[in-house]
Formats: sequence, C-alpha cells, structure tokens
Amino acid sequence: MYHPACWIVFTATTALLFIPGVPVRSGDAAFPKAMDNVTVRQGESATLRCTVDDRVTRVAWLNRSTILYAGNDKWSIDNRVVILSNTKTQYSIKIHNVDVYDEGPYTCSVQTDNHPKTSRVHLIVQVPPQIVNISSDITVNEGSGVTLMCLAFGRPEPTVTWRHLSGKGPGFVSEDEYLEITGITRDQSGEYECSAVNDVAAPDVRKVKVTVNYPPFISNAKNTGASVGQKGILQCEASAVPVAEFQWFKEDTRLANGLDGVRIESKGRMSTLTFFNVSEKDYGNYTCVATNKLGNTNASIILYGPGAVHDGGNAASRAAARLWLWGALLAHLLLNF
Ligand SMILES: *[C@@H]1O[C@H](CO)[C@@H](O)[C@H](O)[C@H]1NC(C)=O
Ligand SMILES: *[C@@H]1O[C@H](CO)[C@@H](O)[C@H](O)[C@H]1NC(C)=O
Ligand SMILES: *[C@@H]1O[C@H](CO)[C@@H](O)[C@H](O)[C@H]1NC(C)=O
Ligand SMILES: *[C@@H]1O[C@H](CO)[C@@H](O)[C@H](O)[C@H]1NC(C)=O
Ligand SMILES: *[C@@H]1O[C@H](CO)[C@@H](O)[C@H](O)[C@H]1NC(C)=O
Ligand SMILES: *[C@@H]1O[C@H](CO)[C@@H](O)[C@H](O)[C@H]1NC(C)=O
Repeated sequence: MYHPACWIVFTATTALLFIPGVPVRSGDAAFPKAMDNVTVRQGESATLRCTVDDRVTRVAWLNRSTILYAGNDKWSIDNRVVILSNTKTQYSIKIHNVDVYDEGPYTCSVQTDNHPKTSRVHLIVQVPPQIVNISSDITVNEGSGVTLMCLAFGRPEPTVTWRHLSGKGPGFVSEDEYLEITGITRDQSGEYECSAVNDVAAPDVRKVKVTVNYPPFISNAKNTGASVGQKGILQCEASAVPVAEFQWFKEDTRLANGLDGVRIESKGRMSTLTFFNVSEKDYGNYTCVATNKLGNTNASIILYGPGAVHDGGNAASRAAARLWLWGALLAHLLLNF
C-alpha cells in the first residue's frame, strides 16, 4: 500500500530550509497521527507538502475546514496562497507573508481507490517581542503608591521584567507586567527599564522615568567669618524635588537682592548671600529658608567678625578665631602688598 504523506517546510527569505519532519502516514492504525509541529516567523513563507502516488485521484489542501486548493483549482481568495506543485508524487502549496492568524491546523485531503484520507499539520507562527503599551513618565510625591505597566505582545508570549536603572546594584526587579511600589522613597526615583523577552528575536526594551517629589532638606549651612571692608559669603545648600526656592532673612527682615550691598544668588541646590563690603552692622544671625510646593525648612547661619566667638565659649573655638584672625590679617597684608 502507498499512502499520502504531508508535512510543512519552513522557507527562509533566501534559502529553502527543510525541517526534518517525519511524514505522516495517513493509513496508519493510529491515524490521524500528530506530526512534529513546524514553526515559521511572522512575515516569512511556509510550504505545505503532501506526498501522493499515481493511484490518487483527487487532492486538496484545507485551512481548518476551508478548502484552499482542490487540485489545480484555487478556492482561496487569499493571494498569499499559491500552488507549488501538483505532480504524480507531490501536491504542495505555499503561503507567503505568514501572519499570526494563519496559525492552526492545515489538512491534506486525498482520494485513493475511492477512499478519502487526510493528514494534518500544525502551522505555528512566531512573533518577536514587542512592547505595545507602557506607562508614561510620571511625577509623584514621596510616600505615594506607584504602579508601572508594560504590556507586551509576541509569540510565544514574552516574559516581562522591570529593573530600576538608577538604583545601586542590579536594581529592584519585578517579574511581571506591573511593577507596584507602595510608599515610594526619593531613592526609588529615576529610570525604570521594562524588557519583553521571548526566544524569537532580541528583547524589546523601553524606559520610564519616575520623579519623586520631596520637601527641602538643608544639607549645608555653615557659619562664616569676614572682616570689615571685605567680601563675605554665606552659603546654604538644600536638596529638594522640585528644586527649592530660597529666601534670606536677618532677624525678621527679608533681604532683597541688590539692597544694602548684598546679592542673593540661587542656582540649583545652592543659594549664596554675598556682602560686597562687610560692615559692623552686617554681623549677626541670618536665616536661610528653602521652600518648594511640598514644604519648607530653614537654617540659621551666622556672619561673624574677627575675634568673635561664634559657636560656644570654649578655648578651642577661641583659638580657631585667633587663627582665623591671623589668616585674615595675612591675607590683608598680601592684598595690600
Ligand atoms: C502541535 O500543535 C498543536 C496545537 O498547538 C498541539 O495540540 C499538538 O499537541 C502539537 N503536536 C506536537 C507533536 O507537538
Ligand atoms: C486560515 O484560516 C484563518 C481563520 O479563518 C484565517 O484567518 C487565515 O487567513 C487563513 N489562512 C490562510 C493562509 O488561508
Ligand atoms: C494603554 O493602557 C492604558 C491603561 O490601560 C489605556 O488607557 C490606554 O488607552 C492604552 N494605550 C494604548 C495605546 O493602547
Ligand atoms: C566699604 O565701606 C566703607 C564704609 O562705608 C568705605 O569706606 C569703603 O570705601 C568701602 N569699600 C569698598 C571696596 O567699597
Ligand atoms: C539664630 O536665630 C535662630 C532663630 O532665629 C535661633 O534659633 C538661633 O539660636 C540663633 N543663633 C544664635 C547663635 O543666636
Ligand atoms: C524656621 O523653622 C521653624 C521651625 O519649623 C519655624 O518655626 C520658623 O518660623 C521658621 N523661620 C522662618 C524665617 O521661616
């Protein structure tokens, strides 16, 4: 007995690659027998082959229950489907530009000695991973909850992971399309990377930026000495998101830029109060106030003169003041040299 056998071959763009599939014998006792499934990438071509002999009187290829070709007659209206050969030994068709909806069972149906026989193959379509919807960059307040979403498509279904790029070490990892952060901290701000991976092609990778707002925190505000007639600079440094705005006060009076020979300059985290020509009345207790929309904080900074004991009455600070005075004198001498 001679039996028809069908299989699918995968056609790469240039080369014709025959995947070693074992032809199914439709007359086997266990018929219809599952054969090795063959896999084609989306966009490539698939060839469906069916082995026949000279006793075969009718041949057809079906997609599910729909006839694509019956003998040389094309029943399908899909112009991607073409006949390759209809000879005494082989009956094959080809599907160009395969897409995901072509996936499924295809059947070769033949008639031998008035007996119909069929053989089935499964066409499996692979698709590279692709991120189809991802959260936009967001800004949140510290302490709030954040959910990042990364939806990906692909065949087989891609695995989706999240990674924190700006973090120390490998970053916080979530093996899910959703990354949930409850009570976000400022350390968790920065870039998050979503990767969609399957073994069909290179991963699809995209990034989301998370900005975490927090109220100002003054990290540097040091008392400073300056002698009369010289330049004096007070500095105040605050970290905050959004960046802090600064104000300077002396006692209860707010200082204005340009008045009383002072200049206020704020740039990023740093604000400076400059006295162009320090006089006796400038000495004292100043307050730097840093404000953003989440709150404010302040720090006191003292501008002190030579010989002043600015931070406690201990001997060490008096010695420091003397040393400073000596340095100021030396600088003065050098400047006038
Ligand atoms: C072929 O694929 C079909 C559908 O995906 C599945 O049911 C069947 O078990 C597969 N057969 C083999 C041999 O892998
Ligand atoms: C196969 O059938 C499916 C479902 O009807 C259809 O979407 C697809 O276009 C068909 N493919 C071919 C190559 O006929
Ligand atoms: C992405 O997902 C969001 C939330 O589910 C939805 O509102 C939005 O329309 C989606 N965007 C696209 C392009 O599908
Ligand atoms: C600083 O101020 C004093 C007193 O007002 C004045 O005599 C001196 O010329 C000023 N120095 C400079 C560099 O402006
Ligand atoms: C400076 O003023 C602040 C408040 O205005 C006060 O808390 C602080 O003790 C003062 N510092 C000195 C050295 O007087
Ligand atoms: C500085 O902070 C203290 C405590 O938060 C507050 O009572 C005070 O009013 C602030 N001073 C200024 C000038 O904002």
